[in-house]
Amino acid sequence: MTEERERIPHRATPFPGPRGLAHARVMNLAGGDVRAALDACRAEHGDAFVFGFGPIRFHWLLDRDAFRFVLADAAEHFGNAQAYPFLAPIGGETALIATDDPEHLRRRRSVQPAFHQRLVTAWASAAEKRFARFVAEPPTKPLLNELRPIVLEVVLGILLGEGTAERQPRLAADVAAMMAFANQPLLAQLLKMRLPGTPWARFVAARARADAALRADIRARRAGAHPGGGGVLGVLLAHDGSDAALSEDELRDQAISLVSAGFDTTTAAITWTMALLADPERQARARAEIQAGDGAPEAALHASYLQAVIAEALRLYPPAPAILRRVVRDVDFRGSTIPIGSNVGLSIWHLHRDPRLWRDPERVIPERWLERDGAFAASRDPFAYLPFGQGGRYCIGAGLARTLTSVFAATALRHASWSLAAWPRPVGVTLVPDDGLPLRWVVPPS
Ligand code: HEM
Repeated sequence: MTEERERIPHRATPFPGPRGLAHARVMNLAGGDVRAALDACRAEHGDAFVFGFGPIRFHWLLDRDAFRFVLADAAEHFGNAQAYPFLAPIGGETALIATDDPEHLRRRRSVQPAFHQRLVTAWASAAEKRFARFVAEPPTKPLLNELRPIVLEVVLGILLGEGTAERQPRLAADVAAMMAFANQPLLAQLLKMRLPGTPWARFVAARARADAALRADIRARRAGAHPGGGGVLGVLLAHDGSDAALSEDELRDQAISLVSAGFDTTTAAITWTMALLADPERQARARAEIQAGDGAPEAALHASYLQAVIAEALRLYPPAPAILRRVVRDVDFRGSTIPIGSNVGLSIWHLHRDPRLWRDPERVIPERWLERDGAFAASRDPFAYLPFGQGGRYCIGAGLARTLTSVFAATALRHASWSLAAWPRPVGVTLVPDDGLPLRWVVPPS
């Protein structure tokens, strides 16, 4: 009997997904709106399906148990190397998000101390000063467009240290230009034509200048210049001479990838929080809470209702709406095999709106994050809510992002009031409002 069974070749069922004309329809939909394509596939095939071709063929997994499978139970089958093709050209080969263990773990151990919670107070007060100047002036353009360079300036100061903008005046513009390329749809990014004036040619030129600026900064600091340079880069340089020291290439890659992973996502988080706070009742409640506090910038991190609004903004509009992986060893999943080399996409957007996990998932309900006594209650299920990922690849900048979002919202609540004419449509690789969020801004608050 056993021998008989062994002679039968193992045939896993093919992974579900659209074929033929249905596939063409889904691809057409995905060209305009990936989430709409995922919705269409889910209606037909359930929570796990595959579609696309070549480098943009993805096995999409949408439900909680699949997240747990990929990020925890079978994590050794799924790698990060080559999983984020749109970040690789910016961050370089050694960036945390683009590498796998054991090198990933070694670098992560070196970078982690630079994000220790005790640094939060210093970040919070540096950020608050810049944000206070910003909110005192009514924005003339949509919030996202005006906020982006301010968050970049703040993030550069925190990561690369005070005075970076003065020493390297082009760096911010070059990083912004590189991110503009990475924020294009994946298909457009595959067209890497190096002809003058093309997005790729502009990207390559911006990267060369940013690289030169960063390497010059690292060398100058290693030679003893800018002793007060500080920032996350300062902490990394302080490892020199120990086992945790990083090479110049590694330092360059960490510096640029931290800035690029951090500033667009944080700008999006702030923008969505401001959108949710545009509701008059929510805004009044959040303002009353902030005004009752002691005014210290970091107090915003302990304001329960504000934290509940931010948690709800990140649930409904996760700035990084998907986690991507590359299969490093064939893996069996629900009776089908996902072969080595496959791309896997975990849709945070769908997880956070799953009616099996969330009551009234499409509605904004900050109160779902509050205990009876009004205290903020973080999610009890780590695989139902993960705007910052989960497990060994948990976002290293989550504390910084939460701090900047809280401090910006609290500063805005203290100095201004605002309202919104129309609810925007979320779009993009980093999820942002399609109209950039034009606000009616009143200083001082009415
Ligand atoms: C609201 C803002 C942010 C969101 C929503 C966000 C989201 C995420 C998510 C979902 C992951 C997991 C990716 C994966 O598992 O493959 C991640 C990883 C990462 N994030 Fe963030 N992030 C934010 C801000 C930041 C900031 C401010 C920084 C740094 C300054 C940062 C640096 C990183 C890095 C380096 C990783 C890779 C960690 C590793 O693989 O070890 N992020 N982020």
